[in-house]
Amino acid sequence: SEVQNDEDFRPNFHFTPKKNWMNDPNGMFYFNGYFHLYFQHYPDDNVWGPMHWGHAISTDMVTWKEQPIAIYPDEKGYIFSGSAVVDKNNTSGFGKDGKTPVIAMFTYHDPEGEKNDEIDYQSQAIAYSLDEGQTWTKYKANPVIENPGIKDFRDPKITWDGIHQQWVMVLATYEKTLFYTSENLKNWTRQSDFGEGIGAHGGVWECPDFFPMYVGDTEEVKWVLIQSLNPGGYNGGSGTQYFIGDFDGKTFTPVEKMKNLGEDHSYWLDFGKDNYAGVTWANIPEENGRTLFMGWMSNWQYAQEVPTETWRSAMTIARELKLEKIDDNYIISSTPVNELKSYRSKNYKDRNVEIDGNTKIIDSAKIDLTSAEIRFKISSLQDTKYQFKLSNSFGDELLFGYDHSTQEFFIDRSKAGQIDFSEDFANKVSTAPRISNSEDLSGIIILDKTSIELFYDEGKTVMTEIFFPNQPWETLSINSEEGSFTMSEIEAYQLKFN
Ligand code: FRU
Repeated sequence: SEVQNDEDFRPNFHFTPKKNWMNDPNGMFYFNGYFHLYFQHYPDDNVWGPMHWGHAISTDMVTWKEQPIAIYPDEKGYIFSGSAVVDKNNTSGFGKDGKTPVIAMFTYHDPEGEKNDEIDYQSQAIAYSLDEGQTWTKYKANPVIENPGIKDFRDPKITWDGIHQQWVMVLATYEKTLFYTSENLKNWTRQSDFGEGIGAHGGVWECPDFFPMYVGDTEEVKWVLIQSLNPGGYNGGSGTQYFIGDFDGKTFTPVEKMKNLGEDHSYWLDFGKDNYAGVTWANIPEENGRTLFMGWMSNWQYAQEVPTETWRSAMTIARELKLEKIDDNYIISSTPVNELKSYRSKNYKDRNVEIDGNTKIIDSAKIDLTSAEIRFKISSLQDTKYQFKLSNSFGDELLFGYDHSTQEFFIDRSKAGQIDFSEDFANKVSTAPRISNSEDLSGIIILDKTSIELFYDEGKTVMTEIFFPNQPWETLSINSEEGSFTMSEIEAYQLKFN
C-alpha cells in the first residue's frame, strides 16, 4: 500500500521523538543500568525553534523510552547542545545525602542578543541532577564561562581525563576547538586552541568530542578529537571529521600524518549525508571499555523539510568506535553496538551464491526489509562496480555499493521515493578511497523503514543515509558491471521489536 500518512515513515527502531522537532544528541551518560540520551528539541513545532533538552532512557541503546523534557529554556536563553558527566567523587560539591550528582553543561543561546547583532550571545552554563538525570536544577551562578567576544562559542563536551586527573572540556568556535580544564566543573581554565589551518573549514565547527582510546589491542593510548562542521561536510552540508593525536593535559597535538591535513582529507566518521553532531556516552564502566557513539541522522541542508509532519528527525543506531592503526595511519572504525544482535529473530543464510546479472538475494517474503540486519562478503574482488539495489513495486530504487576500479563506496537515492522537498537531497554520494586493501569485501547493512547504515570492512568506511520510499522496499538485489561473481557469504536477520 502507498504511504498514507507520515507515521508510515517513522522508523521501527531508530529513536524519534513522539512529537515535533529534534536535532543533536546531548548529555549522553550511563548510570546504574541506564543509558541516557538527551536531545535538542522544540516541543511546539516540527521545525527548529527555542531549544529544550528532550530526554530518553534505554537499557541497551536500542529501544528507547521518551521521558519528560529535562531542561527548559529560560530568561538567559535557549538550551543549546552540551554534555553530561557523572560526578562520582562529588568534585562539584552538588552531591547531597550520599546522592551522586550528574552535571550537565550546555550553551545558553540568547536569541535577543543574536537579533541585536551582539557578538557575545552564547555562554556556557551547568545544571545538576540528584535523581540520576530525571530532573535538573540550574546552577545559580550561571554562566560558568562568559563569552569572551567570540560569535560562535558553543557545545561543551566534558570528559573525565583519568590520565591527568582532571575534567577536560572541548568547545567549538567558528574555526577552532577550544580546550578547557577544571577540578570542580564550575571553574574552567582555557588551556589551548586547535584548528587553525588544519582540517575542513567549509563551515562552522560545532559539537566537538574529545577522549582517550587504546590503539587496537595494544597499550598505546591516543586522544581522539571529533569535530562536526556545517556546512562543509565531505558530501556537502553537515559532516563529522576527526583528528587523532596526543594530549599533555593542556594541548592537543595531532599525529605526524595529520599535522598538515588539508581541506580535502579522508578522516570522516561517516561519508553518508545523514550522521551529524554525534558524540560519545560518558561514564561507560572501565571494565567494559567501550567507546559508544550516536549521531543525529539528518543534515541541516534539508532536515526541516523532510516529508514527516508529526515528528522530524531520528538518531543513528548506537555504534561502538575503535581506534586502529594501519601502517602509519590511525583511523576510527564504527560498527553497530552488539546489543542490536539480541533483536535478531528469523534468519536466512547462504554461501557461495553465484551472481549473474541482476540477481535477487533477499525479498520481503524471506526478511522484512524495514527492520533488517544483513551481512555479506564478496571474495576476490574484480575491477568492477558492485551495485546493490533496494526496490519496490512502485518503482522506487535505492542504489549503493562499491566500485573497485575507483575504490569508492557510493549511495544513490535519486530514485528512492520522495526527493522534491530539497535540491540537496537526491544526489549520489561517494566515500574517499577504501582504507582496507583486502581482496575480500565485507559489509553490514542496517535497514529501517527510512534509513540505511552501511559499515564496510569492519566499519572502516561508513555511510548513513535516510530516504522516503513510496512503499516499503520489497527486494534486495545485486549485480556487477563485469557480469558474474560469487558472493561468498550472505546472512540476513529479521530484527524484531515489539
Ligand atoms: C548543531 C547545532 C549546535 C547547536 C545546536 C542548536 O546541529 O547547530 O551547534 O548547539 O545545533 O540546536
